[in-house]
Amino acid sequence: MQLVGEGRCAEILEHSAGRVVKLFDQRFDEAAVHRMARTAASVAEQGVSAPRVWGVVNEGDRHGIVMDRIEGHTLFDALMTEPERVDEFGEQLAALHLGIHRCSLEGLDSRNDHVRRQIGRAPGIDLEIQGRAIARVIDHDDHILCHGDLHPGNVMIDADGSMLAIDWDFAMSGPPGYDVARAWLLLDRWALAPGTYDADLIGRLRKPLAAAYRRAYLSLSTLTDTDLDLWLLPASVARLCEPIPEEAELVRADVARFASATPV
Ligand SMILES: Nc1ncnc2c1ncn2[C@@H]1O[C@H](COP(=O)(O)OP(=O)(O)OP(=O)(O)O)[C@@H](O)[C@H]1O
Ligand SMILES: [Mg+2]
Repeated sequence: MQLVGEGRCAEILEHSAGRVVKLFDQRFDEAAVHRMARTAASVAEQGVSAPRVWGVVNEGDRHGIVMDRIEGHTLFDALMTEPERVDEFGEQLAALHLGIHRCSLEGLDSRNDHVRRQIGRAPGIDLEIQGRAIARVIDHDDHILCHGDLHPGNVMIDADGSMLAIDWDFAMSGPPGYDVARAWLLLDRWALAPGTYDADLIGRLRKPLAAAYRRAYLSLSTLTDTDLDLWLLPASVARLCEPIPEEAELVRADVARFASATPV
């Protein structure tokens, strides 16, 4: 099977005409892959711009999700070939994210519960800051679909120019504000996802992309700047649970700043 793409936890291989298989590494057992496949399938069935899912296959001790192949490239590739369209891509990304947040799905894990657990075990964070971060994790009753990891390696643009969200492995239900805060931080400043792209060029484009995304999302939704800023602390503290040494210092400095009385 020919390799189509690669991530930190899976290989994406050609499967059959118009389809690929996302073959997870051995850390993911069959039950986990079935659970992720069910979520990804429901997302596409709800009309979210995402590849349709066709089932789970087993290859030896590895398990994979079969889905539509997107004939196109990632947002990283699009930025490199058409950097002048950075604002437009940011706006398109905001519209994609808002489309995700219009979707309500029962049966997903709670993002807020997950974030509270992460804050509780974030390395090197004192109790007072943990308390402030947890106080900003506000519950609500809706089951709003949150992607959980929207970054330019998890967004593809097809031959028609439509944007699709892939990699639904971290989807949960929760408050859109958290999902937007995390996406904005991923775009603006956190370590870039692995991939083959020009890091210098992407480094120059990321802040304009993040700004256009943020501006467009806030103008299209009822979320305010203040709501979004309040989520930056919990999102940054939770991020420390993903051990990414190259960004740890920056995230810690952000935590100190975001925890100050006046959120920035
Ligand atoms: N349905 C698809 N059609 C075409 N290419 C795809 C598809 N799904 C994924 N890819 C390619 O494979 C790459 C990795 O996919 P994906 O993000 O799902 O893997 P991952 O291991 O979960 O990644 P991460 O490192 O974000 O955890 C994508 O960036 C994209 O280039
Ligand atoms: Mg990915």
